[in-house]
Amino acid sequence: MHDFLRQLPKVELHLHIEGSLEPELMFALAQRNNIDLPYASAQEAKEAYDFNDLQAFLDLYFQGMNVLRHEEDFYDLAMDYFHRARREGVVHVDMHFDPQAHLQRGVPLEVVMGGLLKAKQEAEESMDFSVGMIMAFLRDRPAEEALHVLEQAAPYWKFIDAIGLDSAERDHPPSEFKTLFARAKEIGLVRVAHAGEEGPADYIIQALDLLGVERIDHGVRCLENPDLVERLRREQVVLTVCPLSNVCLKVVDDLREHPLPTLLQKGLNVTISSDDPAYFGGGMLANHVACADAFGWSEDVFVQLTRNAIDAAFVSADRRADLL
Ligand code: HPA
Ligand code: ZN
Repeated sequence: MHDFLRQLPKVELHLHIEGSLEPELMFALAQRNNIDLPYASAQEAKEAYDFNDLQAFLDLYFQGMNVLRHEEDFYDLAMDYFHRARREGVVHVDMHFDPQAHLQRGVPLEVVMGGLLKAKQEAEESMDFSVGMIMAFLRDRPAEEALHVLEQAAPYWKFIDAIGLDSAERDHPPSEFKTLFARAKEIGLVRVAHAGEEGPADYIIQALDLLGVERIDHGVRCLENPDLVERLRREQVVLTVCPLSNVCLKVVDDLREHPLPTLLQKGLNVTISSDDPAYFGGGMLANHVACADAFGWSEDVFVQLTRNAIDAAFVSADRRADLL
């Protein structure tokens, strides 16, 4: 089964590129940019990755990305991930990135976009790999700031597939971002949002009804509302579920108690992603292997999940046909 999962051409719909920053690269970039790290070694950093909830992770996630200062840092970050993903049999990734987290630190949007777009272009030209771009907005920062950043990004709209909504979910409902998402729709961008990870099922309903999202990132707490589950099934809304992330952030106690099998059994349009592979114990392959071990799924289940991801991926019709 593990060999099968390695060679299965996998499609990842939910990946934060800043969350793919491995401690080894963090140390290399810290040295290159003359930045002190709060860890003595990459090993010590890994040992610090022990989280009680989403906020505990976010604190280290924002701290880690502080080593990203120049265009080549963003390029190296993305290329490092693309190569690693490709070696695990990943053929496409829809990549979230967090411009506000960099602007806040004085890193211009041009630096972020320049590095990421160069990496995307190079990967697509040289390694049978495609990349979708999701400009994500931080829900624990003011909605007006997000709108300003979206306008500032006008020169890059043509390179972006979608906008997303991430960061601390509790007490930051989708309803606060109606104007931002309406503007993204006007621009012609697809919309996705994190909802129902730590937040209640109602946030999934808000994301669908008020933000007009096409996919829900996580969404596992939908099971708390049977009417919502029925709606997600009827409308075949894609859920980008991240099993190892949910274990690391204590959304579930143990993978064997994860709602994934229930979501599938209820006929929902489920996909598997890694979220923040450098922080949550591995990438797409590790997530697939963990599901095989925990749930005893057959090859057919993984093929179906991959088909779901291919259908929903931000790719051209030609590329989609290649992936099928
Ligand atoms: N949830 C919310 N925001 C995030 C995550 C996550 O899992 N990873 C990076 N930003
Ligand atoms: Zn996420």
